[in-house]
Amino acid sequence: MNITVFGTGYVGLVQGAILADVGHHVVCVDLDADKIERLKQGIIPIYEPGLEPLVKENHAAGRLDFTTDAAAGVQHGQVQFIAVGTPPDENGSADLQYVLSVAATIAEHMERDQVIVDKSTVPVGTADTVRAKVAEVLERRGRRELGFDVVSNPEFLKEGSAVADCQKPDRIIIGTESEETEEVMRELYAPFNRNHEKIIVMDVRSAELTKYAANCMLATKISFMNEMANLAERLGADIEAVRQGIGSDPRIGYHFIYPGVGYGGSCFPKDVQALIRTASDIDFDAKMLKAVEARNAEQKTTLFQKIHTHYQGDLAGKTFAVWGLAFKPNTDDMREAPSRVLMEALWEAGAKVQAYDPEAMEEAQRLYGNRDELSLCGTKEAALKGATALVIVTEWQSFRAPDFDLINERLSEPTIFDGRNLYEPKRMAHKGFTYYSIGRNS
Ligand code: UGA
Repeated sequence: MNITVFGTGYVGLVQGAILADVGHHVVCVDLDADKIERLKQGIIPIYEPGLEPLVKENHAAGRLDFTTDAAAGVQHGQVQFIAVGTPPDENGSADLQYVLSVAATIAEHMERDQVIVDKSTVPVGTADTVRAKVAEVLERRGRRELGFDVVSNPEFLKEGSAVADCQKPDRIIIGTESEETEEVMRELYAPFNRNHEKIIVMDVRSAELTKYAANCMLATKISFMNEMANLAERLGADIEAVRQGIGSDPRIGYHFIYPGVGYGGSCFPKDVQALIRTASDIDFDAKMLKAVEARNAEQKTTLFQKIHTHYQGDLAGKTFAVWGLAFKPNTDDMREAPSRVLMEALWEAGAKVQAYDPEAMEEAQRLYGNRDELSLCGTKEAALKGATALVIVTEWQSFRAPDFDLINERLSEPTIFDGRNLYEPKRMAHKGFTYYSIGRNS
């Protein structure tokens, strides 16, 4: 099939490449000419395992192309994906200006019936708004005879495993009331619908809400565990034992119950906020979601609080080694990252930071490059040199078995503040470290 994807961010680019890889002919459209040029040369704007070869191979095979020419893009596809950003506006609602501008562009250039797919995470009711926008432009063009449908087809990929998630989806949600559209979408996704039925067809609004409900449920699990970790710390219990104890119940499960320094990234914080906002727009008080958000905001300050208490507020002039800047491993993304809350609080208190991350150094440079209080180090060992203590914010694999003797030697005090519970408290005590973790008594 011929497919057009508007937006070459995480969702659009991965989706475009995956669809091309199973044999569809995909054109990705973006306004950013520089980005499009680089993509044509196989230069990927984000760090995402497996994406670069996929883009290069499919581009070389002529199945995946990139353009800034929206008109040509619309002409190409029989299905048009909208996969542009929906950043939060100042009151927490998802800002739909990019989605609606793509909808208008599609309507401006379409010359045949079209299936328009909302792939971006958009509030319930957006498909109706997109439908109205397309109808309005067609009306203005005097082309009311052109038929179209707007489908909600949310994406569930995770950064860091986006390619694998997209290649082997748990489920494919298709929100449409039209049998014809359902058929088109079934054909499009047939290569991914193997082994067992993964396609779930529902009405548009339910599909839109499914996306938010999934992310909010996962965010709730995390905030719940962080609350339990705080309790465990104060009650003399060990959250790691508790985690295993409850995870063994299949109704609870082991996924997404790791306590830590709070969830970050471009999805959970934004989506929880947006659903709270959607609820308040219809005069519904989303009490649970507000609690999830509040717990998360507080959790992001937990490492700083532990550091502050340990040094009795005397942080001015001290230097801290920080391992991990990305909001989670296997990405260079620092959006809403707990590392930012930590570093900004340390700077505010007069401390300096020597930081290392396996992938997010460029991003850190872009965000904070000019600050004297931050040194970006080439290795995790270099970050330790002359630092008072080590603070671990992201659970990169390469941090799991470090050379503890070297850490001990390089830090002026052998103290570790671990926001991801990477090590065993008893073992750390045995090695002579003062070790702080999350929800464990060390
Ligand atoms: C999330 C969802 O997991 C995807 O299913 C969804 O498609 C995506 O948002 C989206 O809406 O686009 P992502 O934000 O890439 O994916 O990252 P996650 O792996 O879900 O992690 C989110 C945050 O939760 C991270 O900061 C992570 O450290 C934290 N987390 C995760 C915990 O603190 N504890 C856990 O047990 C799991």
